[in-house]
Amino acid sequence: MRAIDVIAHKRDGQALSKEEIDWFITSYTRGNLPDYQAAALLMAIYLNGMSREETVNLTLAMAYSGDTLDLSDIIEYSVDKHSSGGVGDKTSLVVLPLVASCGVPVAKMSGRGLGFSGGTLDKLEAIAGYRVNLSGEEFRALAARNGIVLAGQSGELAPADGKLYALRDVTSTVPSLPLIASSIMSKKIAAGANGVVLDVKVGRGAFMTNLDDARQLAQTMVDIGVDAGRDMIAALSDMNQPLGEAVGNALEVAEAIAALKGGGPADFREHCLIVSGYMLRLAGQGAKWTDDDEVQALLVEYLDGGVALTTFRKMVEAQGGDVSMVDDPHKLPVAHIIASFEAEQDGYIAQLAADEIAWAAFELGAGREKKSDSIDPAVGVVVHVKVGDKVRRGAPLVTVYANDDAKVEACMAHLQNAIAYSDTPVDPLPLFYDTIYGSK
Ligand code: URA
Repeated sequence: MRAIDVIAHKRDGQALSKEEIDWFITSYTRGNLPDYQAAALLMAIYLNGMSREETVNLTLAMAYSGDTLDLSDIIEYSVDKHSSGGVGDKTSLVVLPLVASCGVPVAKMSGRGLGFSGGTLDKLEAIAGYRVNLSGEEFRALAARNGIVLAGQSGELAPADGKLYALRDVTSTVPSLPLIASSIMSKKIAAGANGVVLDVKVGRGAFMTNLDDARQLAQTMVDIGVDAGRDMIAALSDMNQPLGEAVGNALEVAEAIAALKGGGPADFREHCLIVSGYMLRLAGQGAKWTDDDEVQALLVEYLDGGVALTTFRKMVEAQGGDVSMVDDPHKLPVAHIIASFEAEQDGYIAQLAADEIAWAAFELGAGREKKSDSIDPAVGVVVHVKVGDKVRRGAPLVTVYANDDAKVEACMAHLQNAIAYSDTPVDPLPLFYDTIYGSK
């Protein structure tokens, strides 16, 4: 086979065969094809799209391009969740222990934040000593012993995606539906999931800013999963305003612990209960956890009764984290400077732009521009209002936690851009827009 022919087929709008896709991906991953040929194929895919069958074949070729995680000897049915990335999204810290508390083992590999999007590993590392780098053996052993493990990627899962993603980044081919969907799903399949709950974010703080695009992405990923023999649920959730109140690593861990104690912001709690319910529905395989009301009652009992918190504590302890920080979140890293952003007028909150709020936290050092940048776990912002809330001039809307006076001004400027007011009442934003179900 010749790369030039595969590229020409896609350039001319033809569907690629499974053999062509497998050959191209294998050759590129092994270093037998140059970047410029892979870039040409990516651009042809970007311009001409891919059929459902091609997208599935691309996903599987990437999923099996390196190591795969097989937990089938320790976990009968492995259920995973994936968030397409958001602002203040600390959902995994609550959902995983909650689901594990119901007797469903969870073994999840998460990522780090980049740009304005946060990452679960950065949040967990706000807990002193928490080890996210586990060997494959350790990962398996913790999954078997505790029924819960939350760490970074071990082994080389889906290396084709890693290489292609880096190339997409520098060739303006990231925002392509088949390329995004296959990239995300290849990693889930390589990580051994039997069922996947996708939390596809929509809005200003998300990859997909409008509902139609997000729905199409969600449907494409569900279709890939179903064709690859996986059970799938995709939830379309709002990301126009931050989820919960806290944006910043230690602040988000504290908020997650509050939720695990039955408290925390109402929107975040509700979001976690819904996503956990979807995970149980998949794990129940149509025989268990089919009644949504019963499932929600069980989840509320485990959240409010402290069972999920105990499971979280066990996970932190097993991965070397300082559990005294879980017992007393005041021991988490704290910032030295506390400032307040106050309402500039009376009115209703019409906008709390999630992207601007993320950049506000980023300016303080909560995020990273390049993979190699370090972050400050203590800094961030806590937003005390939601879209639709009525406020009075001078009311504290956001608390800023900083460690450098010089960074506060830039943070405040983003907060000013983020917030808009209306003189007339504004409807609150929904938490979820839709759910897409798919099963094999
Ligand atoms: N996240 C991924 O993992 N891949 C993409 O292509 C986009 C977002």
